[in-house]
Amino acid sequence: MHRAGLAVWTVLDELKRMVRPGITTMELDQYAERRVAELGGRPAFKGYRGYPRVLCTSINDEVVHGIPSPKRRLAEGDILSLDFGVEMEGYYGDAAVTVPVGTISAELERLLRVTRESLDRAIDQARPGNRLSDISHAVQSWVERHGYSVVRELVGHGIGTRMHEDLQVPNYGEPGHGPRLREGMTLAIEPMVNAGRPAIRILDDEWTAVSADGSYAAHFEHTIAITSDGPWILTRPREVEGACW
Ligand code: MF3
Ligand code: CO
Repeated sequence: MHRAGLAVWTVLDELKRMVRPGITTMELDQYAERRVAELGGRPAFKGYRGYPRVLCTSINDEVVHGIPSPKRRLAEGDILSLDFGVEMEGYYGDAAVTVPVGTISAELERLLRVTRESLDRAIDQARPGNRLSDISHAVQSWVERHGYSVVRELVGHGIGTRMHEDLQVPNYGEPGHGPRLREGMTLAIEPMVNAGRPAIRILDDEWTAVSADGSYAAHFEHTIAITSDGPWILTRPREVEGACW
């Protein structure tokens, strides 16, 4: 899973540096498709329940599952969630990061920071002996303390030899509930945060989830393993330390 995760991280890291005003989301998708093949992985999203692309690119009020398009050109001041998954040797990695396009407002910088920090805090709860909802609560409490809301309809997930495995990882809940976390469990934790109200709706393309009130949304994700030494972020190199993104 770490090998799959490293391919995810490599592609996302390169895409982050390509993001600038004027580029289309389709160009990012085509780059990712070419690059993952070079790295020896298979893109996990393309063909999944009929999803047509290798990346999800979600802009501004789009929360997740935005479909890359040659008509969608990034503009200065946008925020863009890049979500990417890889299958390698039968194992999966899945991660996402929201990045600024050019210069963004201080308000949007704060939304990105708080959402990223909520993932840091959630990952820190992924330890043997804790319960699943300790992860959920870490996200919700941090997000709501800053005046934002967590999306309820979409959740993180178990991951391993399939992209979506049994455990669902909500981004809200009271601490101390649900299955006990055990060494060897692998989860994709993915806070989805709206600057306004929590409700979402799905666009007519049947994929893109947008905030119902049109407020900006951010999304960060990592695939992690629970070990006796604490959480191991599988979707980044071991030598990278500090904040999750
Ligand atoms: N990170 C998303 C998830 O875990 C990506 C799925 S997009 C899909 O659900 F197209 F593959 F469905
Ligand atoms: Co995921």
